[in-house]
Amino acid sequence: MNVMIIGGGGREHAIARYIAVSPKITKLYALPGNGGISEVAECVNISAEDIDGIVSFAQNNAIDFAIVAPDDPLAMGCVDRLEAIGVKCFGPDQKAAIIESSKIFAKELMKKYGIPTADYKIFTEIDEALSYCALHDYPLVVKADGLAKGKGVTVAENFKQAREAVLSCMKDKAFGKSGERILIEECLRGPEVTVLAFTDGKTIVPMLSSMDHKRAYDGNKGPNTGGMGVVAPNFYYTPEIAEECMNKIFVPTIEAMKSEGRTFKGCLYFGLMLTKDGPKVIEYNCRFGDPEAEAVLPLLATDLFTIMQAVRDEKLAEVPVKFIDGASCCVVIASGGYPGKYLTGYEITLGESGEVPGVEIFHAGTKKENGKLLTAGGRVLAVTAVGDNPAEARERAYDAVKCINFEGMRYRSDIGAC
Ligand code: AMP
Ligand code: GLY
Repeated sequence: MNVMIIGGGGREHAIARYIAVSPKITKLYALPGNGGISEVAECVNISAEDIDGIVSFAQNNAIDFAIVAPDDPLAMGCVDRLEAIGVKCFGPDQKAAIIESSKIFAKELMKKYGIPTADYKIFTEIDEALSYCALHDYPLVVKADGLAKGKGVTVAENFKQAREAVLSCMKDKAFGKSGERILIEECLRGPEVTVLAFTDGKTIVPMLSSMDHKRAYDGNKGPNTGGMGVVAPNFYYTPEIAEECMNKIFVPTIEAMKSEGRTFKGCLYFGLMLTKDGPKVIEYNCRFGDPEAEAVLPLLATDLFTIMQAVRDEKLAEVPVKFIDGASCCVVIASGGYPGKYLTGYEITLGESGEVPGVEIFHAGTKKENGKLLTAGGRVLAVTAVGDNPAEARERAYDAVKCINFEGMRYRSDIGAC
């Protein structure tokens, strides 16, 4: 089969690495891919948001199956367009991708179907939002409704911060149309857990839980980022909590989507908070998390491409999805300055990092030029190690990180330890 992956980050490198081993695949492409993905797939310079370009590439290259990994093309209806020309896809259609692309849709869904989440109010007028912020206790969470490259959420500690967030969304239009409507939410407290789940709309199979580290600096300090590291499984996520989540959140969510005529097929991301009143949903994403995929997929024991085909063909119940015993730790190495301004084009040396047992190095923002590996993004590498236990995984990941070098490189030294 001819298969293509849409996207070019660490998540797509992890997916490419694990499906490339499938004997069912004769040719694997990545659009646009990156310096690491080029080792397992042919990279084609078509952006993940160029839906017309993706569709004509699929037509001209007899693509049989596509994996649409990032949020933007999913929200833009990439899966609908490809399926319409006979390309089978792993990923939700546009109607189902709304679970991520509109936070207001997600909130109203949860309210209608009794799925536990933070209390909220929707605002379309600046004055009303500001009056609410002026009268309310703090902290409060201000969220842009639509996709905002992971930057649309502010946990405001006081009125000044909330006001800035409201004005940035609704007046300055920092996120364009995505911020025309906003949500203001109750601030929940507790450990955060990510659960990625395969679903074909009828069956839902949660993967091993994980914990992202979103803040830029050690000790969970500094601004939010796309994610600076992940450990899996998540220490706080006990079998009892998993069962509660299955019954009160996971199954009700896929059933709710089906009842709304928006059957979800693909990987559904549950961002959860374990509050003293039980687990609650912080957010849904319509795709694998990044870097959660880089930590969770190395623990998957079942062939990933077989699962993806079963999801597409609504036969997930027939595939036993298994994980290995053990743990993983993924440390992201970023460019100096990230998540703010940073420079790219620095040469990367990987040293002996690949020799450390259990280590996989996923490229997030790299490119190959004249035989050299160069930095090409904010998050540059996601270094994952698998071990028998969390301590071993962590030690191996940092042993590998210490072998890697490029100018200005920066990483958190407390992934899995805070
Ligand atoms: P999101 O982009 O929705 O994942 O939000 C980014 C981060 O903001 C989450 O990972 C949480 O740490 C935090 N957050 C979002 N909503 C809430 C909430 N209602 N209460 C507390 N923290 C939140
Ligand atoms: N790591 C968070 C996300 O993928 O949205």
